[in-house]
Amino acid sequence: MTKQIYITRKIPEAGLKLLRDKGFSFDMGDSKLPPSKKYIIKKLKSKPYDGVISFLTDTLDKEVFDACPTAKIFANFSVGFDNIDIVEAKKRGIQATNTPGTSSLAVAEHTVSLMLALTTRIVEGDLYMRAGKYKGWDPELLVGTDMKGKIIGLVGGGAIGMEVARILKNGFGSNIIYSDVVENKALEQETGAIKKEFNELLKTADIISLHCPLMASTTHLINKDAFAMMKSSAFLVNTARGPVIDEKVLVEVLRNKQIKGAALDVYEYEPKLTKGLSKLNNVILTPHIASARESARNMMAEIAAKNVISVLETGVAINNVIK
Ligand code: DGY
Repeated sequence: MTKQIYITRKIPEAGLKLLRDKGFSFDMGDSKLPPSKKYIIKKLKSKPYDGVISFLTDTLDKEVFDACPTAKIFANFSVGFDNIDIVEAKKRGIQATNTPGTSSLAVAEHTVSLMLALTTRIVEGDLYMRAGKYKGWDPELLVGTDMKGKIIGLVGGGAIGMEVARILKNGFGSNIIYSDVVENKALEQETGAIKKEFNELLKTADIISLHCPLMASTTHLINKDAFAMMKSSAFLVNTARGPVIDEKVLVEVLRNKQIKGAALDVYEYEPKLTKGLSKLNNVILTPHIASARESARNMMAEIAAKNVISVLETGVAINNVIK
């Protein structure tokens, strides 16, 4: 029997080709915007799909699994998998996978770009020029901060944190500290990174960069107490997941200039912005594009497809996220 796959939104040809080569047939959503859960349920009920390729914007829970009892695998086209109810999937024997490593370099480069945008005040400078405010060279105009020698605090020392550390150590001579539940020996040996307690990291770092997954233990990890420990000169960068920061508190902290600035690629109420955020000039905002590179997207498509193929052919997932 031909295997039937549902893909909730368009993925690159690199992944589709792998499915076609195996003789799998697929239906693919064509919406530019994330489809609603109601729509996904309707589509999943329309055919006995064997597998699903899903996105981080798709809520995969009991109701979605109920809509497609034939699906053996939900393969996320993303590194993060906080959209999947893992407990429910496990209970039903459904496999769930992600695409680890595919976007580490892209996200790391975006993270470092955000750090540089903060320290060099590029966005403020651009807005200043466009507003016609530049009337002549001024030694006190938009004075920035050196990156060299700064202490970078990585909250999460996994694959993305490691790439960020490599760029900063080799390119800027930054000193890297990190906090994580597990020790990363390779990170320490290659970049001289030192593992610190989370609170110690908050107190010491000049730039705090978030690279942890979203879980119960990391939701609002950066809260009022955490901000209270940061230096007033600190910058905060988030390319992980929005809810790791309590954004209402962040708005207050930035408004009161309790820290120097922040740059965000992800948002607590994505795609909505917390009230007041866009009014602040000490925050830089990008629309969850840290992994938006052709290379990363192609790899994500390939890995998602390979996971589907592997589960349907052998019963074993390559990148199982259910432990
Ligand atoms: C991921 O992969 O989890 C990113 O957030 C989106 O590509």
